[in-house]
Amino acid sequence: MGSWLEGKTLAKEIKEEVKNEVAQYLKKRKEVPGLVGILVGENRASKIYLRTKERNCERLGIRSEILFLPGDIEVSLLKAKIEELKSREDVDGILVQLPLPSGFNAPEIIACIPPEKDVDGFHPFNLGNLMMNQEGLKPCTPLGIIELLKSREIPIEGKRVVVVGRSRIVGKPLAAMITNENGTVTICHSKTENLPQVTSEADILVGAIGRGAFITQEFVKLGAVVVDVGMNNLADKAKVEEMFGKDEKRQNDIKEKGYTLIGDVHPHVIDKAEFLTPVPGGVGPLTVAMLMRNTLEAFKMRRNLA
Ligand code: GUN
Repeated sequence: MGSWLEGKTLAKEIKEEVKNEVAQYLKKRKEVPGLVGILVGENRASKIYLRTKERNCERLGIRSEILFLPGDIEVSLLKAKIEELKSREDVDGILVQLPLPSGFNAPEIIACIPPEKDVDGFHPFNLGNLMMNQEGLKPCTPLGIIELLKSREIPIEGKRVVVVGRSRIVGKPLAAMITNENGTVTICHSKTENLPQVTSEADILVGAIGRGAFITQEFVKLGAVVVDVGMNNLADKAKVEEMFGKDEKRQNDIKEKGYTLIGDVHPHVIDKAEFLTPVPGGVGPLTVAMLMRNTLEAFKMRRNLA
């Protein structure tokens, strides 16, 4: 049986560092970093994520705003809103919460964010720098995964890393970061043939496909490090019991909310892996911590303090 690789403690440490540095800038310069999150439409999960980001900003002394825009907003108006934020001196970070409602072209919108305020690291300029292994703002979830592995002294160099999922948010930038760390990376997706055979070669296996408990023991090499990026709601009581037995917290989730949050990796994988990140409490807290750090970085870069 392996160990749970939690992200909460590391996330707390990183946020504590950010908080202290923000306090110093407030004292020295009488200014703090500012973050604006944009939510287009009525996505419930997106709203929760943005509120979490806002709450974290508050705790760390970072100024934050959420711009709630209607789902049927004209593209030109959305771009004009971003343009406004671009010219605001007190705004260091701008993020457009994804997914955007259907009909919007996310890359087109993200390209309007000035790269120096792109705290998600999704702008083509920042992704280009990542590909070229240059300094710059980098996507938060992959950054968090690399930080988590490093904090536990889990080596990446020379290791076989298999990432299941080719998203712009996680899979692709993570593959670039792992390459930059001298890992040997394979990206898999829904069209990959013999998927369990490919994933079974991984020393480090990352699940980032958005399908609840998709990665089962047969996908995993004995003693592998397994990182679960998935966030899926599971409402099926029988399935919850199959996965977690009579776990009190899970049963409470079902009773109170009607669902429980699960990852892309089946929890029984813990019996075969050396490490498995839990959901919740694994990668998630690190994503927020990295966003806070990126916002501070953007603040410093814009003032030539870094
Ligand atoms: N949706 C899911 N993850 C993310 C993220 O890291 N940033 C943004 N902007 N949207 C997301």
